[in-house]
Amino acid sequence: YKAELDLSDIDKGTYPHYMLKEMDEQPAVVRRIMQQYENEAGDLTIDPTILQAIKEADRLYIIAAGTSYHAGLIGKQYFEKMAQIPVEVHISSEFGYNMPLLSKKPLFVFISQSGETADSRQVLVKVKEMGHKALTITNVPGSTLSREADYTLLLHAGPEIAVASTKAYVAQVAVLAITAAAVADQLTFDLKKELGIAANAIQSIIDRKEEFATVVEKFLATTRNAFFIGRGMDYFVSMEAALKLKEISYIQAEGFAGGELKHGTIALIEDGTPVIALATQKEVALNLRGNVKEVAARGAHTCIIAMEGMDEAGDTLTIPHVHPLLAPLAAVVPVQLISYYAALYRGCDVDKPRNLAKSVTVE
Ligand code: G6P
Repeated sequence: YKAELDLSDIDKGTYPHYMLKEMDEQPAVVRRIMQQYENEAGDLTIDPTILQAIKEADRLYIIAAGTSYHAGLIGKQYFEKMAQIPVEVHISSEFGYNMPLLSKKPLFVFISQSGETADSRQVLVKVKEMGHKALTITNVPGSTLSREADYTLLLHAGPEIAVASTKAYVAQVAVLAITAAAVADQLTFDLKKELGIAANAIQSIIDRKEEFATVVEKFLATTRNAFFIGRGMDYFVSMEAALKLKEISYIQAEGFAGGELKHGTIALIEDGTPVIALATQKEVALNLRGNVKEVAARGAHTCIIAMEGMDEAGDTLTIPHVHPLLAPLAAVVPVQLISYYAALYRGCDVDKPRNLAKSVTVE
């Protein structure tokens, strides 16, 4: 591990905050992961032993907390859509004490930036006692979850110091995509090419970061609460967006499936309530825009972040086009930046938010 640790990684340099530095590193992190997971033939793949273990399983159980849980929700889509392997995603603090009925040949997949989260570890200990195999996807080689699992896949994101996870999430999504694609018999797209496009898209969003400060002034400067909505992949990113905003700006935020808002939560929409909508999934873009209209009609202050190709006049921000399955890699970046600038604007301690720890080693 020491050999991998470059001192410049833990030095803030000229950055005011680790979080800003770590968001900036995201295009490089995606490219580094692509190098690390490339075989001699130039294909993206994973260790054959791990590949075998995944192929032998009849179901994957992804166990994680916080941001890593949100990456797990995206991972489920990858394994099911690319490789036709059924997946359940569970919050670690719930799973250990309320275990679902397991399949005959489960493989447990722990996702953890730190590899030290106690809630996840207690599940690992239990499932190992039950005789099951476990894979840990972590940023920290030699971490507890890595040592105690049968297999490890590394995130190669470099040390993440800001409490709010950014580059580790992007790394988790990228590694999950590579893993699912490696297990898939056939892919309908060129993952290597599309990941390269995603890295460039992230870079171009980062290059426009000042725009996000403006968005914050318009939408989040004085609000008490905010909603993020999306459908399909964008729903999962909305959940991560809300967590990010809550963690560092202390604005009460929720991530919702666009279509579910009307079944209760729409009651919370008042004049000026900010609703930020993510629109990167073509097949649900129309429905999502319908949801935006529903809240706008009730006074919400709406902000649409749309992907090129499905953007419309009047959208607040447009992000470059990437493959729909990889859209979370690009879509998460604007909401990370919005959360960062909201926290700054409100004078919060961006890197060390109140009540939170980078890794939680108590249950
Ligand atoms: C803490 C952090 C979160 C993080 C979660 C899971 O609560 O504040 O940002 O997502 O732990 O951490 P892990 O290291 O297991 O990914």
